[in-house]
Amino acid sequence: MTEPTILGIETSCDETAAAVVTGGRQVLSNVVATQFDVHAKYGGIVPELASRAHIENLDGVIQEAMASAGVGRNDLDAIAVTNRPGLMGCLLIGVMSAKTLALTWGKPLLGVNHIHAHAASAAIALPADAPQPWPAVALVVSGGHTSLFLVRDPLSIELLGRTIDDAAGEAFDKVASILNLGFPGGPIVDRVARAGNPSAYDFPRSMLDREALDFSFSGIKTAVLYRVHGPGKKNGSLDHLSEQDIADVAASFQAAVVDVLVGKTLQAVEQTGVKTVVVGGGVAANHALREGLSAACNQRGITLHLTPMKYCGDNGAMVAAMGYYLLKAVRTADLTLEPKATARE
Ligand code: KG4
Ligand code: ZN
Repeated sequence: MTEPTILGIETSCDETAAAVVTGGRQVLSNVVATQFDVHAKYGGIVPELASRAHIENLDGVIQEAMASAGVGRNDLDAIAVTNRPGLMGCLLIGVMSAKTLALTWGKPLLGVNHIHAHAASAAIALPADAPQPWPAVALVVSGGHTSLFLVRDPLSIELLGRTIDDAAGEAFDKVASILNLGFPGGPIVDRVARAGNPSAYDFPRSMLDREALDFSFSGIKTAVLYRVHGPGKKNGSLDHLSEQDIADVAASFQAAVVDVLVGKTLQAVEQTGVKTVVVGGGVAANHALREGLSAACNQRGITLHLTPMKYCGDNGAMVAAMGYYLLKAVRTADLTLEPKATARE
């Protein structure tokens, strides 16, 4: 039997994305229109502008995804769309478009949880005949979420812990803003940190001493702020800092975040007894995190599947891949599918 081919649509935040994937792993196309230019001058994502950009871009992105995959509507077996969590206005556009296509083309509709799609995205890279990596501990690190899951399989995902305040990506973005490095901050901090000394400053490693698998990143952001401007000071010029100082702050911040993410992931492995780790989400592109996790897992005989760089940030391939598992289980949606801002009811 031939494996189903699915169109995946993603509009939950600031990327307009569509992809065509066969069998959950064979990515025929993956088109992402970023909105960096739209939001850069505001130093963060402006929801209304994000929604408008999705409206402008989505049709073209879907057309390009289908054209570069070489498929027409008759080749598609289903339409998958992120319907939660995310910015409400943004989700609405993807969900309405997916419903329209499903209805007019007569295809099953699949509603995908964005975070679960990040959690399962490491499997997209595996060869078609490789066994599934489940059960696995999944670390999902993005701009909106930092969570640990036990993935028994892509349709049975249990939350083990999550951030009680900021997400890791949010901390990267805020530290980039404190250091006046630009937006989005994660990739820039990652780059600047390469020239810095990760031991120059001892930033806090919150929650590592606790058994609970939750995270907290707001303290480290404040610690960076006070290190840069002086205790208790929230702003001021950066003139007193050399380029090397800035690289040292970036590298020390990044090292602290990586220690926490790696440490908590190892705790999750210990607590669950599951010896496979998968990692996804925008921050999974961070080179220090990838190296830290690789070294830690190597030492302990833990199998690690890092999501390939191109599927770390928001993309349609992970949505189509998750749609594949939903379709196989006949967990299709209907035209009552609603966008939801939150991850759970
Ligand atoms: O998964 P994603 O594209 O969107 C959300 O679902 O939030 O993640 C975006 C986040 C942003 O905060 C961005 O700064 C961060 O991922 N990010 C990185 C890197 N690349 C993207 N953070 C650290 N290092 C990177 N190389
Ligand atoms: Zn995401």
